[in-house]
Amino acid sequence: MTTSIDSLQDALAAHGQEHVLRYWEELTDDERAALAAQIEEIDLAQMERLIDIWVKNEPKPEHFDAITPVPVVPPVDPSRADAKEALAAGEDALRAGRIGLVVVAGGQGTRLGYDGPKGAYPIGALTERTLFAYHADKIHGLQRRYGVTLPWFVMVSDTNRAETEAYFQQHAFFGLDPADLKFFQQKMVPCVDANGKYMLDSKGVLAMNPNGHGGSLLALIDEGIVAECRSRGIDTLSYFQVDNWAVKVADPYFLGYHLLGQSEFSSKVHRKREARESVGVHCMCDGVPHVIEYSELDIYPKLLETDADGKPVHFAGNPAIHVLDIGFVERVYNEFERFPWHRAHKKIPYIDNNGQRVEPDAPNGYKFETFIFDALQLTERAPVALEILAPGEYTPIKQMDGPNSVTAARASMAAYWSEWLEAAGMTIERDGDGNPVHLVEISPRFALDKAEFVEKTQGVSWPAPGPIFVDGVGTIFQGR
Ligand code: UTP
Repeated sequence: MTTSIDSLQDALAAHGQEHVLRYWEELTDDERAALAAQIEEIDLAQMERLIDIWVKNEPKPEHFDAITPVPVVPPVDPSRADAKEALAAGEDALRAGRIGLVVVAGGQGTRLGYDGPKGAYPIGALTERTLFAYHADKIHGLQRRYGVTLPWFVMVSDTNRAETEAYFQQHAFFGLDPADLKFFQQKMVPCVDANGKYMLDSKGVLAMNPNGHGGSLLALIDEGIVAECRSRGIDTLSYFQVDNWAVKVADPYFLGYHLLGQSEFSSKVHRKREARESVGVHCMCDGVPHVIEYSELDIYPKLLETDADGKPVHFAGNPAIHVLDIGFVERVYNEFERFPWHRAHKKIPYIDNNGQRVEPDAPNGYKFETFIFDALQLTERAPVALEILAPGEYTPIKQMDGPNSVTAARASMAAYWSEWLEAAGMTIERDGDGNPVHLVEISPRFALDKAEFVEKTQGVSWPAPGPIFVDGVGTIFQGR
């Protein structure tokens, strides 16, 4: 790596960005090396294209002649023949070691505002077990059930890699074999101001953000994960987001529908309750599968249509739970220049021309990101969309309270697990609306679904109603 000011200056000047070196003389050698490393990671030409499209001009939204609902597989009913076939195919693939797991955990978690990687957030209201711990418990449950190793690939970014790795080490990798747990790092992109100029976060550090969860499609190849999968005989990836506590990791039904449907990239979808619900909509645009972000609903008002009962016609909300074919990841990587980017107008602290740090109180710059679901547009075979019921599958944790929050997720999971307890014979106290009064946690290491839970708890004498936690080996803890 070079820290020569001249070569950096020339490279930056070719794209009108040499101003970021203006405090070079004040930097220590280490700071210079770190700044040079940041700059060398940037695809300067690509940034120039993005700035041209998104900052210097205002791109027109894509026009579609026809937007139609995406064909959806209805929610799994285990007694249906297609579901039985899907389960058998998914379980065969799991037992054969064809499945790897990818969690994306490289985001900045700004809305949650937790001081640490989002995956280390103590979501368990009774146990304070974290999101990462819960996902690891699911992996233990799956490995036990299918007698197989499920390698876990954890995407991090420069913003949280060191903390995330340290966190896993402190917790002895939650009992998983470190040889089967790999961290891989997505790239960062510079933030730009209203004139398309890169911004400095401090005199020797560029303001940058991770390149979005779509960056996983690059990082999986760049960081050797796909090569490792190939050498392990893995051809299919179960993809999920760290902030979805409920997600069914490597759901055999979903894997089976994906494999039997010869899909390259499959998605779960959940039924939107109302047309303006803040979730992207999976739909077909001129015959091509897309996810249209909720912020773009007014650009495509067709997506707001409702039926005679007032229910959204385009109901397929996208919870970012996917299955990916490894060959598809390789193809998208090679075609990544076609991959769409998105721009977000944000408040970005920066160092001004006088060397002073400014904390803006209104959006003053842009962040660029890619979204995994845009890979749908690059599919060549019809992607599978499997409808799910949100409880027990989708509890995104974006903020502390309100919709998609910690509070909502805890209530949703307490309701979901309370049904398991009821099925197993415990009395559940409910309020006037039918919601359980007490918090519940059940370790997925003990049971991955209601049937398994009921079977394993036969003969248990349940305590009186109250908060309850069932740990990984089935021990029952009462109270908080
Ligand atoms: P979000 O888009 O909700 O972002 O990411 P976030 O970082 O969690 O939160 P905000 O928007 O800053 O408040 C959904 C999932 O995608 C991952 C996140 O870690 C989260 O699991 N993600 C997001 C990445 O891995 N990399 C990114 O660049 C962006």
